[in-house]
Amino acid sequence: MAQETIHNEIEKILVSEEEIQKKCKELGAILTEEYEGKFPLAIGVLKGALPFMSDILRHTEIHLEMDFMDVSSYDGGTSSTGEVKILKDLNTKVEGRDLIIVEDIIDSGLTLNYLVDLFKYRKANSIKIVTLLDKPAGRTADIKADLIGFEVPDEFVVGYGLDYAEKYRNLSYIGVLKPEIYGG
Ligand code: XMP
Ligand code: MG
Repeated sequence: MAQETIHNEIEKILVSEEEIQKKCKELGAILTEEYEGKFPLAIGVLKGALPFMSDILRHTEIHLEMDFMDVSSYDGGTSSTGEVKILKDLNTKVEGRDLIIVEDIIDSGLTLNYLVDLFKYRKANSIKIVTLLDKPAGRTADIKADLIGFEVPDEFVVGYGLDYAEKYRNLSYIGVLKPEIYGG
């Protein structure tokens, strides 16, 4: 008999583990080239960016520093409240630093818009945005990533850092849940 695992709750896979890992290698190589001779500060946006940050940065071959920020514009559901709150700030000063913001997904763009404004205000020398996923259909803020892993359709996606009610972050791929799981 087939084992009941979280994979049974997935309707379809949008981006496979193999595709993600290949992309992380490519993006890591790009960052190595772009930041040669520099000492950038990579900022992971918790918690969703964690697996992606870990996988791309291990493919870089430059010196860099890591820090994390936890912000929230969501309330556990599937739609934005439009409000960005800082839940955990950086431990590092960004003034004069070259920043690489690592995100899991850009949907409305409100979160990144807020972070970019904040880091400009704190006098960063440069800011680059690297996102695993881009959902252009959800965009309300005028924000673009410098490096994008994959474009996704206007569906709520989970896995590889992305959650639904804090679950599914541990999947190694990006997928869409079966309809009965939402609201269940
Ligand atoms: P915004 O709208 O500010 O959203 O660009 C950024 C944050 O919202 C979360 N988000 C999602 N999380 N599946 C998720 O699991 C999704 O389809 C999705 N869309 C947005 C995510 O935390 C992201 O950092
Ligand atoms: Mg996030």
